Amino acid sequence: MDQGHYQAFGPHLSARVERARAILEDTGFAAMVLHAGTPFRYHADDMDAPFKPNPHFAHWTPMKGPFHLLVVRPGKRPRLIRVAPEDYWYEQAPLGSPFWAGEFDLIQVGDEAAAWAEAAPGEGFAYVGDAPARAAAAGVPEAGLNPEALLARLDWDRSSKSAYEVACIEEAGRKAGLGHRAAREAFLGGASELEIHHAYVQATGCVDAELPYESIVALNPHGAILHYTGKRTERDGQVLLIDAGASHLGYASDITRTWAREDVDPDFQAMIEGMDKLELELCEMVQPGLPYPELQLAAHQKVADLLFGVGVLRLGGQEAVSQGLTAPFMPHGVGHFLGIQTHDVSGHQKEPAGGRVEPPAEHPFLRTTRTIEQGQVFTIEPGCYFIEMLLRPFRSGEKSRMFDWEAIDRLAPFGGVRVEDDLLATSYGHRNLTRPYV
Ligand code: GLY
Ligand code: MN
Ligand code: MN
Repeated sequence: MDQGHYQAFGPHLSARVERARAILEDTGFAAMVLHAGTPFRYHADDMDAPFKPNPHFAHWTPMKGPFHLLVVRPGKRPRLIRVAPEDYWYEQAPLGSPFWAGEFDLIQVGDEAAAWAEAAPGEGFAYVGDAPARAAAAGVPEAGLNPEALLARLDWDRSSKSAYEVACIEEAGRKAGLGHRAAREAFLGGASELEIHHAYVQATGCVDAELPYESIVALNPHGAILHYTGKRTERDGQVLLIDAGASHLGYASDITRTWAREDVDPDFQAMIEGMDKLELELCEMVQPGLPYPELQLAAHQKVADLLFGVGVLRLGGQEAVSQGLTAPFMPHGVGHFLGIQTHDVSGHQKEPAGGRVEPPAEHPFLRTTRTIEQGQVFTIEPGCYFIEMLLRPFRSGEKSRMFDWEAIDRLAPFGGVRVEDDLLATSYGHRNLTRPYV
């Protein structure tokens, strides 16, 4: 990331300040406290889960670690209260002078209690975070504890990315691209799924805890387990489906590629090439004003044509989709918002004030029902898999003759195909944030 990207942080924060002023006024609050969060301790254990900050806090600052508080009060600089305990058990790296620190009125305290004393919330305050009881004890009124109306507005704002956020997501994509290329090399060399994962992690420069989600490194039939993680012992695969991201300053990328060795069944190779082509066609459709669910419908139609082309289905196009023949092959949504969270917020939100738009009944797993607007970042990730539990009901009965079961049984050992990129919707259409890197 060059200096220009860092300079984009100032405008990003100014936009947060301006939006917060309007949102607080509209929802009737005088100020808000955003909480970095509390570590999650496993039950009956003395260990914590890897810490992820409250995304509403992360929207304002990439400061790592728990307990910090950000006090946002219109007319004042945002006040960032950093909790930096003395500790010899865990590293407490000094803050140094990160590029973003100068944008805040920043102070440092030794513990959580001191942070709350500094924040001194009272009448008219709202609190957003995972410890509402702690906030209430510190003086936040009951009506201000994670208020729904305020959260809806904050969620909605997060679906439009600033230039700074786009730069972070793109940098996360660049890192993931390095990992994907290293993973492909390891795969072609006959490595195990675990070895491929290690090659991936090493090349991204992220430690496991910095990955936005557990990498899916699936050889052969494991590709048909949509979130396969497992023991990763399979090796010498003919097909690798790898779905893996990276993070940068708290923002995620989410990329899937499917690779095959040269000796793979030519029909499966045709499926990989066809999926890559149809994914790019779906990307080409992206522009402001397009309802995102139309991409889901188009994906099914294109998957139907692909399956017809390789002889798996005896019917293609809309006719096959209408008969539900593609449903067992692509049983997930074609994409989701991406940002601080891999499955970012507000994909189903109806309007800034809240509400929900359900996905079409035939596509319950579609995570985005919004209309595409400039500034949104989302994935496009069509896929096609041989999942026996979903195919079984079609093996008998009237629709059975629409499938070539010999072809299905021949191709099933290769698992499945998915291709996934991260897109920014622009005023003129879109920009693919990940294709330049892998
Ligand atoms: N890696 C999770 C997803 O693609 O949604
Ligand atoms: Mn995804
Ligand atoms: Mn993914």
